[in-house]
Order: sequence, then structure tokens, then C-alpha cells
Amino acid sequence: MNDMIYLDNGATTFPKPEVVYQQMDSFYRHYGVNPGRSGYDMCLAAGSIIEDTRKLLTRFFNGTDPNRLVFGYNATDALNLAIYGLLLPGDHAIATTLEHNSVLRPLYHLSRDSRVEVDHVPFDERGFISPDEITRRFRKNTRLVAINHASNVIGTVQDLAAIGGSCRERGIVLLVDCSQSAGKIPIDMQGMNLDVVAFTGHKSLMGPMGIGGLCVREGVEIRHTRAGGTGVRSAQRAHLDEYPYRLEYGTPNLPGIAGLNAGVKWLQEQGMEDIERREMRLLEILRDGLRQIDHVVLHCQDQLANHIGVLSFNIQGIEASEVGTMLDVDHSIACRTGLHCAPLVHEQLGTDKVHGSVRFGIGPFTTESDITKAVAAVEEIAALRATMAAARPR
Ligand SMILES: Cc1ncc(COP(=O)(O)O)c(C=O)c1O
Repeated sequence: MNDMIYLDNGATTFPKPEVVYQQMDSFYRHYGVNPGRSGYDMCLAAGSIIEDTRKLLTRFFNGTDPNRLVFGYNATDALNLAIYGLLLPGDHAIATTLEHNSVLRPLYHLSRDSRVEVDHVPFDERGFISPDEITRRFRKNTRLVAINHASNVIGTVQDLAAIGGSCRERGIVLLVDCSQSAGKIPIDMQGMNLDVVAFTGHKSLMGPMGIGGLCVREGVEIRHTRAGGTGVRSAQRAHLDEYPYRLEYGTPNLPGIAGLNAGVKWLQEQGMEDIERREMRLLEILRDGLRQIDHVVLHCQDQLANHIGVLSFNIQGIEASEVGTMLDVDHSIACRTGLHCAPLVHEQLGTDKVHGSVRFGIGPFTTESDITKAVAAVEEIAALRATMAAARPR
């Protein structure tokens, strides 16, 4: 376990900074009571970590109102809240073929069950979405553009500012899935004209699992599609309309929020830009190493500008899952194989026919030696190609 090389940071970052474990443990031990429901000291302290984290993340995304930073349980939860709360029958939505199932599936269900029309804009051969291709699909009834900021399969980062400008001109809500980008690259809601940012705590924000949320611009109203206890105005029959209660329900994940608070502060202390610079240098070493190997096919890695440290590849003639197993069993390298919950990316790349790709995700604790070993392991596996093909039953 200790010798394992962890290159599955696209799925979740591991390990977490020590302060995250410490803060979760200590906060839950000392203040683990239901926040916002009573006035005793522990309860107030529990509530204040939530308010502090709302402020921290609002500043982090350059939003304006901390009450519009709402917590949910992960990006999937947050994206569902936004998508179901923004679209109505008869609306048109635009997404892209880079989306994760946490966007694709809610949109699919709405198109199947609720007369919502959905278009998916394909990416170009380098892995980018043309802002003009989005604009070209605008219709009178277009209500929402939902876009993945940084691809969890090919690592490309989209030009949000250009897309944000044209959505704002037309009054179309821009919802950005920042699951992979938050904590890696700056997200400036005001500067980029973003309306709703969805984030997850357990990836590059360096927090634990089970915490995520939305940052919602003032003026954008997401209907509540769930209802329940808020701890305030309990006599009111209907769920509250005011933020943050509007989109929050029941007891929050307090230890998760405390851990996320520590994760984001750690990131800021280390310097997000320094971490990203390091990760991009490692990505370059990885990309350059892998592309020297015969029969290795890299996806959208020709240039690395506007990328994050996520890279997908295949070895011709060997299934991605077999490569993953050999990396694990023979080389103690943890990675992810398959479709990575983003089936349309693979349809476009043609990798759906080979059940997906192998993905390496670089994180703040990845070292150059990890990368060198990963390249050597892939080289060894690629060299087994001919032997494996001969051994297959015909
Ligand atoms: C681009 C993207 N969107 C959404 C998600 C879903 O995140 P979560 O599992 O935290 O809900 C992921 C996670 O892999 C992702 O990479």
C-alpha cells in the first residue's frame, strides 16, 4: 500500500493534506452538533464553520454573495439541483460531448420525460469546444448552457470567458461543471460571466468525499426541487425561497465542510498556481515519455496549453482494463480505466469500441519518480502486446 503509485487523482485526490484529516477529527469531536438549530455555544461554533466556508469559497470563485454558496453532497448532487431547478418543459439546453454523466443523465431524463430539448456540441480534434459552435445553436427557447470546464478524460480546459460573454448577452444561464478544474485553475465568476458554478470537495479542492455545492450568481434563480427541514421558520408550510436555505435540505455534512475548509486553506497557503505549474511539468514529462512508446495512442495531447494534469491513452491491441490490471498487479500503479462516466467523449474518439481508455491523473503529491515509473511500466506492457495477441483464443 505504501509503495503504491497513486495516479488516480482525476477520480479523487489522495492522500489529503494532513490538516484536512486533523481538522475533520478535531472539529467533529469538539463541535459535532447539528448547526443552526439552537443557540448554545457548540451549535454556534458549528454554524460558524459553515458560514466561514461559504465566505471562503465565494471569494475563491469570485462570487458576490456567500448566502448563494450552497452545500450539497458532491458535484453530481449540485448539478442535479441546478439542472432540474433551471429547466422547464419546452426549454432548450446546450451541453457538450465532453460532459460527465452527472450532466448528461439529468439532461437525458428531462429530454425523455419533460419535453426539454438538448443539443451536444462536439469538441474539435484538439479537445476544445468552439464558443461559436455554442452560439450557433442558440434558439429562442434556449435557457441553459451546461459545460464541463476541464475534461476528466482528456484534460482540456474550455474558454469560459468567451462562452460566458455570449450567454450573458442573450440572458442564457451558464452552468459550469468545475469538478476537475476547481483547485487547479482560477475560476472567476464575475470576470468570466459565469452564472452557476458546480464544485465537488474531494478532488483538487483537497477536501473529503461527500461535500460539494453550487455558487449561484445574484439574479439567477434556481427553483427548489426538494424540500425539508432548514432549522429556521419551521412553521412555514413551503420550503424557504431565500438562499442558502432555498437549495439546502436537512442536516449538512459538517465534518465534510470542516475538511473542505482546511483543504482550500491548505491550497491557498501552498499556492494554487505553484501546484499547477508543477503538475503541468509532470504532465509534460509523462506525455513526452508515453509518446515515444510504439503502439501507445494519446488522446488530445499534442499541445498542453489549456490543459490540466489528466491524460488518457490506449495501447493498440490491449484492452484498457487489461492495461489497468497490469499496472496495478505488476507495477503497483493505481489509475482508472474505462469510460470515466463520460461516454460521449469515447464515442467521439472511437474508444467506445475498445471499452474506453487508461487515465492517469496527476495530483499535488505526485512526484517525478512516480511519472518516470509509470512511463517505464507502460513501455513494458506495450512490449507484451505481441505475446498477448498470440496467447488469445481465436
Ligand atoms: C467532470 C466531472 N463532473 C462531475 C463529476 C462528479 O463528481 P462527484 O462524483 O463528486 O459527484 C466528476 C467526477 O469524476 C467529474 O470528473
